[in-house]
Amino acid sequence: MMDRNLSREQLLGKINEVSFAVDDILLFLDTHPCSEEALAYYREAAGMRRELMEEYAHCYGPLTVDDAVHDTCGTWKWMTQPFPWQMEGGRCEAMWNYVKRLQYPIKITQPNAKLAQFIMSQYGGPDGEIAASMRYLSQRFSMPNQMTVATLTDIGTEELAHMEMIGTIVHQLTRNLSMEEIEKSGFGPYYTDHTVGIWPQAAGGIPFNACEFQSKGDPITDLFEDLAAEQKARSTYDNILRTVKDIPEIADPIRFLRAREVVHFQRFGEALRSLQEELDAKNFYAFNPSFDMPASCSCPSECGCRR
Ligand SMILES: [Fe+2]
Repeated sequence: MMDRNLSREQLLGKINEVSFAVDDILLFLDTHPCSEEALAYYREAAGMRRELMEEYAHCYGPLTVDDAVHDTCGTWKWMTQPFPWQMEGGRCEAMWNYVKRLQYPIKITQPNAKLAQFIMSQYGGPDGEIAASMRYLSQRFSMPNQMTVATLTDIGTEELAHMEMIGTIVHQLTRNLSMEEIEKSGFGPYYTDHTVGIWPQAAGGIPFNACEFQSKGDPITDLFEDLAAEQKARSTYDNILRTVKDIPEIADPIRFLRAREVVHFQRFGEALRSLQEELDAKNFYAFNPSFDMPASCSCPSECGCRR
């Protein structure tokens, strides 16, 4: 039974404590899967964590999207909740949780090393998913309103899932290849260095480099880069689709990923527009901290949240 009189800070403190226990016992169970003692401890801690998270969502707002339904005032509270670095003392549920599912199913039955090399570009290439996720998850710290912080966090998180999808496609395309197939397909140089492990590089063999994205600390500049990044990623998926369009088991997940780039472009456009409207309207080119005051909340006035 939860103690209904806990302050927000106390409740977060309890969630942090029990979450650490869950994270730690999870690692122990990965290497000791038959430990009954550890399993019992995990069940107890995970149950307690679930209750505390629901309690927190009920009283103060959601810490995870799964708890966003515990909303009694009819507005979307997910983005109005402070992000971990915005909290006093930084005490918050700050860790990502891995969910064991792909965002779109992938089941490739016919290996093809040549296509794997093309598609690898969307893993570690200049417009690939690693660059996208690192870009958005880095830029979000300098965003001045909750709409842009939430948009960058949520799209950056989704890009991590896309990175996993591309890794899965490349892995499935390079399973069980013979040496003859590797040599004939031109996969030999990659094979020499990485066998069939997944390693971030562009289709032309150039390794992933953090200079492929920018985090400028200027929200307007960064959001323009994000819009361009989504368009470039969509173009790359278009190029890949021309080579795989007749192979549905590859083309379907690639089409899904392409469609997500279009959605991300739209969301970034809306986030940029909201920011420009909230900042000094004459100042379209950049955020200037000397006269652009921090933007306020973008949600309806009755929402009551600040920033
Ligand atoms: Fe994207």
